[in-house]
Amino acid sequence: MQTPLIDPFARPITYLRVSVTDRCDFRCVYCMAENMTFLPKKELLTLEELDRLCSLFVGMGVKKLRITGGEPLVRKNIMSFFQAMSRHLDSGDLDELTLTTNGSQLGRFAADLAACGVRRVNVSLDTLDADKFARVTRWGRLDQVMRGIDAAQQAGLRVKLNAVALKGFNEDEQFTLTEFCATRDMDLTWIEVMPMGDLGNEDRLDQYWPLKDLRARYAERYDLVDLTESSGGPARYVRLTQTGQKIGFITPLTHNFCESCNRVRMTCTGELYMCLGQEDRADLRAALRDHPNDDTPVRAAIRDAIDRKPKGHDFDYSRQQVAGQMTRHMSHTGG
Ligand code: 5AD
Ligand code: SF4
Repeated sequence: MQTPLIDPFARPITYLRVSVTDRCDFRCVYCMAENMTFLPKKELLTLEELDRLCSLFVGMGVKKLRITGGEPLVRKNIMSFFQAMSRHLDSGDLDELTLTTNGSQLGRFAADLAACGVRRVNVSLDTLDADKFARVTRWGRLDQVMRGIDAAQQAGLRVKLNAVALKGFNEDEQFTLTEFCATRDMDLTWIEVMPMGDLGNEDRLDQYWPLKDLRARYAERYDLVDLTESSGGPARYVRLTQTGQKIGFITPLTHNFCESCNRVRMTCTGELYMCLGQEDRADLRAALRDHPNDDTPVRAAIRDAIDRKPKGHDFDYSRQQVAGQMTRHMSHTGG
């Protein structure tokens, strides 16, 4: 075992989010343009390279691995990668292997994921209305995702729904989504829409529905208990006393979680972003490909990057323009 990764602010880095593809079978309006140009295949880390890098991180103390995209389950042969990562669960080096998915392929893969030791999945779902779902995802079909969720639960996976809060789009579904989750025994997390990608055609300030408004609406209908537990991430949780449900709020525009940040993200091209809100990154693919048979320089590149992890990020909507605007797409960095 190597020395654990600790950043300059004494935060242990125990959580790695890895995007395994920039592709997706949906084209959500807040995430992608309809005619996306995707990366050429040679730019992507191969599944073997992903295994090598993730395994190095696990060897340096990463305990939780979240696989994202794009849509991770559209990557060809991705189950062999999950299978490979399951060895770290078996050895006890890794505590949790999980993924964020749009759910479209869960019907096919839920049982295989469970067999690889995956216990929980986050499914992105913003609406329960088939027409609205088709509109927001452009290419998605709600019934397919519903079948995916069914398959996941049948396979014994715990499902959490992530809904992006969109003004004028799903404001009227706050309680129907909440009740749906109660009925199906799923947690629900609301995500504030983030200033990601180019603003170009859609004006994200128009879609901005602050989560404090959702919270206030919950408070009109339920008694709320603040849960202090922190995952080291941007989510804050409340319990609805009447139903016992845990509701999460992810407000990436506030800074209040940076102190406990335990995570870094890797893109599908092997760029390591030390902070969601900052452009600084390290090219781990170069280190990897320059040293096919020697992990020492690759570990050094990882440590070097962690030594540059900044204290916090810098999004700010307050001046009615998107400052701290990131130019990269979520599908590239991983949600
Ligand atoms: N703002 C907030 N969430 C986003 N996602 C994608 N783009 C954005 C954005 N601009 C979310 C998806 C999913 C996760 C992968 O990231 O809805 O929950
Ligand atoms: Fe695909 Fe998720 Fe982006 Fe939608 S938000 S286009 S499902 S990666």
